[in-house]
Amino acid sequence: MRILLLGADGQIGFELDRALAPLGRVVATTRSGRLPGGATCRALDLADLVAVRALVLDERPDWILNAAAYTRVDDAEREGDLAFRINADAPGAIGAAAAAVGARVLHYSTDYVFAGRGDRPWRENDPTDPINAYGRSKLEGETQLRAATPAHLVLRVAWVHAARGRNFLRTMRSLAAGRGELRVGDDQVGAPTPARWIAEASAHAIARLGLAVPGDPRFGTYHLAPAGSTTWYGFARAIVARAAAAGLIVRAPRVVAVSSDEFPTPARRPAWSVLDATALREVFGLALPDWSYGLDAVLGEIAAARESGQGAIP
Ligand SMILES: NC(=O)c1ccc[n+]([C@@H]2O[C@H](COP(=O)([O-])OP(=O)(O)OC[C@H]3O[C@@H](n4cnc5c(N)ncnc54)[C@H](OP(=O)(O)O)[C@@H]3O)[C@@H](O)[C@H]2O)c1
Repeated sequence: MRILLLGADGQIGFELDRALAPLGRVVATTRSGRLPGGATCRALDLADLVAVRALVLDERPDWILNAAAYTRVDDAEREGDLAFRINADAPGAIGAAAAAVGARVLHYSTDYVFAGRGDRPWRENDPTDPINAYGRSKLEGETQLRAATPAHLVLRVAWVHAARGRNFLRTMRSLAAGRGELRVGDDQVGAPTPARWIAEASAHAIARLGLAVPGDPRFGTYHLAPAGSTTWYGFARAIVARAAAAGLIVRAPRVVAVSSDEFPTPARRPAWSVLDATALREVFGLALPDWSYGLDAVLGEIAAARESGQGAIP
């Protein structure tokens, strides 16, 4: 299979580059034309819709994976046009170009398409109603992709973390190094998900679909999430306790549960981000373990990098 991977230097994109390798030839792109290790790759700015189409027509892949997105949730409130171009128009352009060459598309979306008040995990067909500009741009991206090609998988994910990149786990670990106390919101619920689990599940789904043609009932929108749930406070407590036990922080600060109102942000966040992943299990046989095992896996990766003398992961 020929696979075109867009956004190979994000949290999920980095993991995809490795997870997809056994499936065929992977052509990776980043905005800079550089991969995280420094090697060169094809450069692609998703804001350039003409370039997006030209690249797809040039590569003629069997699958396109779009791991690139405008992910700065707060900045999206004032850069709405740019966020929409990257998160909404680009997936539409990717879908149209894919349809032109017979490619299939796997694209990532978010729990932020939902309004964020709930009492049971969100199902794929629950009504959407985003409460911030990022969520609106991602929802419009789903819509544009669906309209452009039926041969798509939209995987909605939430609370992504990894050993590298910008994420809550890394922020907590670095704050823990210098503070005696961490105050963390205890009123938003979700399931922290390792980028590596998302990449491996994505590769599994693609392997199962292979060269499926439009009309295959397995194409569509799915929630990809681990079992269980917690709050940011619960996640922070687990990070601190396990990082301290693994020697990744010198001393464990006290973690205090507070209202998220204590940390006003330009963009509102959903209070309920739990995704029901039943459909993914039924259609693709995929079920992720409890989120806490994912935390252990990522901390284990950070510890292994340190022990191997690799030092801090960027
Ligand atoms: N992180 C989460 O908690 C979360 C939650 C729900 C859904 N998601 C979705 O999951 C997907 C992957 O997220 P992630 O956490 O891996 O994101 P990430 O680590 O923030 O990476 C985003 C990637 O997109 C690239 N990008 C941004 N603007 C671009 C542009 N104009 N042209 C080309 N590349 C561009 C970035 O490249 P640069 O380095 O050049 O900026 C980066 O490689 C996204 O669709 C996101 O919406 C993430």
